[in-house]
Amino acid sequence: MSRTNPPPHRRRRAALMTAGVLVAAGVGTGGLLQGTASAAAFGCDVTYSANDWGSGFTANVTITNTGDAAANGWALTYSYAGNQQLQQGWSAVWSQSGKTVTVEDAGWNANLAPGASTSAGANFSYSGTNSAPTAFAVNGVTCGEEDPGDPDPGDPDPGDPDPGDPGTPGDRVDNPYEDAGVYVNPEWSENAAAEPGGDAIADEPTAVWLDRRAAIEGVNGGMGLRDHLDAAVEQAQDYDDFVFQVVVYNLPGRDCAALASNGELAPDDIDTYKSEFIDPIAEILADPAYADLRIVTVIEIDSLPNLVTNVSPRATATPQCDVMKANGNYQEGISYALNELGDIPNVYNYIDAGHYGWIGWDDNLLASAQLFHDTATMNGATVDDVHGFIVNTANYGPSVEPYYSINDSVNGTSVRQSSWIDWNRYVDNQSFAQGFRQQLVSLGFNSDIGMLIDTSRNGWGGPDRPTGPAAKTSLDAFVDGSRLDQRLQAGNWCNQAGAGLGERPTASPATGIDAYTWIKPPGESDGASEVIPNDEGKGFDEMCDPTYTGNPRNNYNMSGALGDAPLSGHWFSAQFQELLANAYPPVN
Ligand code: BGC
Repeated sequence: MSRTNPPPHRRRRAALMTAGVLVAAGVGTGGLLQGTASAAAFGCDVTYSANDWGSGFTANVTITNTGDAAANGWALTYSYAGNQQLQQGWSAVWSQSGKTVTVEDAGWNANLAPGASTSAGANFSYSGTNSAPTAFAVNGVTCGEEDPGDPDPGDPDPGDPDPGDPGTPGDRVDNPYEDAGVYVNPEWSENAAAEPGGDAIADEPTAVWLDRRAAIEGVNGGMGLRDHLDAAVEQAQDYDDFVFQVVVYNLPGRDCAALASNGELAPDDIDTYKSEFIDPIAEILADPAYADLRIVTVIEIDSLPNLVTNVSPRATATPQCDVMKANGNYQEGISYALNELGDIPNVYNYIDAGHYGWIGWDDNLLASAQLFHDTATMNGATVDDVHGFIVNTANYGPSVEPYYSINDSVNGTSVRQSSWIDWNRYVDNQSFAQGFRQQLVSLGFNSDIGMLIDTSRNGWGGPDRPTGPAAKTSLDAFVDGSRLDQRLQAGNWCNQAGAGLGERPTASPATGIDAYTWIKPPGESDGASEVIPNDEGKGFDEMCDPTYTGNPRNNYNMSGALGDAPLSGHWFSAQFQELLANAYPPVN
C-alpha cells in the first residue's frame, strides 16, 4: 500500500495574517485587533452557538462578510468571561491567549467574498458558568452584534447543507461500535497467540481483509467470508450488539503509487470487479442469517487519496495513478461498492481517507473532500451510503500527539514551519479526522458521519518515547524532541522500525470519532523487503527495503522499514514482537 506525504504545493501563506493577528490577539479583552491591513472595507456578522455537555462544549462560529470588499485572509477574535479552555478546533486555525480566542482561516477558506459565509468549530473544556461571548471582531472590524433571537435566517448555513436530509436507511445506529462487541478473527488470533507474550492481545478484534476474489471463498484452505460471518454470529451470542469489520480491497489497478499491494485486477478490469468481487460480497452480506450483525466495511484503502496527490502534474505522480485517474475506474468501483453495499440495511460503509501526514495539507484536504463527495454521489450512490470515513488504515501516525500541537510556536515561529510538520495543518490523526469530518460535512456529507482511526500500530511506546514537551531550543529540536512518532518521515508506511501497538480498540474515544479500531492486523507485513515471487499479484516496493533512500513521496528519506519482511499480508513474527514490546499503552 502506498501512503505518501506529498507537500509539493506547500502554501507559504507567510505572515499575512499569522504574525500580526496572533500577537494582537493577546491584547485587550474586547477581542479587537488593531492595525490589520485588510480592515478597512470589510464588514462582518458572526453567529455563535455552543453545544454544551456540562464540562465542555463544541463552539460553532459562522462569519458572514457584510462588507463590500472580499477578505483575502481573515481572523476572528472574541473572548470568554469564564475559564473556557480551547482543546481542539477545525476548519480554521484556533488559538487562545488568556481569555481571548483567535480563529484564523485555514488557507482553503481564506477568501470571503461579500455576502459569503464560512463556518468553523472547536471543542472547549470549562467549569463553572459557560456564557456565550458577546463581542466579535474580524480583521480588526467589530462585527454586528448578534441577536440570539435572530440567528439571521436569511443566511445560508454551510454547516447544515441539507436540513431535509432523511438520514440513513434501515435501522442503522449512529455509532455501530457503541456498546457492541467486535469480531475477533480466529485466524489472526491464533497467529498472535502463537507468539511469545501474544496471548495478552490475541482476543482483540481485527478486521477481515478481502484482498482478492479468492478471499471470498477462502485462500489456501483458510476461512472465507461466510466462515467468518458464521463465526461472528457465534461470537455475537455473548453480546446485545455486535460489529463485524471487513476490508473491501481489490480495485482494478490497485495501489497505484506503490507496488507492495498491487492487486490481481488490471486497470481496466472494472466489470470483473463489479461482478466477481462486489456482487458476491453484497450477496453474502445481505444474507438474512447475518442481519443482526452490524457490518462495518472499510472501502478501498488509499485509492481516492492517491488520485489527489499522486497524479500529474505533481512531482509525486506515478504513471499508474495517472492511468487510474484518467480511466475513472477507482471512482466507478467505489461508487458501485458504496451503492451495492449501502443497500444492505445493516452495512456501515466507511471510506478510507488516508492519514494526517498525507491529506492534512490544505490543498490535499479540500481536494480529497471534493473527490470523496463526487465519488459518493455518482452512479447511483448517495451520501446516505456513507456512514463515515477511516484514517490511518495500516499506517503508523499517532492518534494524538500529547506534547505539542499545531498551535505551538518557538520564538514566535509556528511549528508548522518545522521540518517534520512542513506546513501541514495537523500534527496527528485525531485532530485531522475531526477537522476533515467538518470539511466533509460542509461539502454535503451527512452531519452525523463518524470517523474511525486505525490504532493497530501507532502506539510508539518503548524506551524512545518522550515523556513531555522538549525544550524550545530551536523549532526542529522542540518538534523532534516532543513528537511520539519516531518515523524518519511521515510519508514512510512500510513495516516501520520502532513502532508499537496503539490504543486497544475503543468505542467513542473522542468527539466525532466512532472508534479506535485495529484494521491492519498487527503482525501482518506491509510488504516484502526484497523481491519474492508470488501468485498474489504482490510486487516489490522499495519503501519496504531498509536500504532504500526514498522518492518524492517521502521526500527522499530512508524508508525506515524493518528488514527480512515477507510479502504483504503474510505473518511477520519479528514485527509482531516489536509491536508488542513497544505497545502504548503498554501490554501487561
Ligand atoms: C495486503 C493484504 C493483506 C492486508 C492485511 C495488505 O497490505 O495487501 O494482502 O490482507 O494487508 O494484512
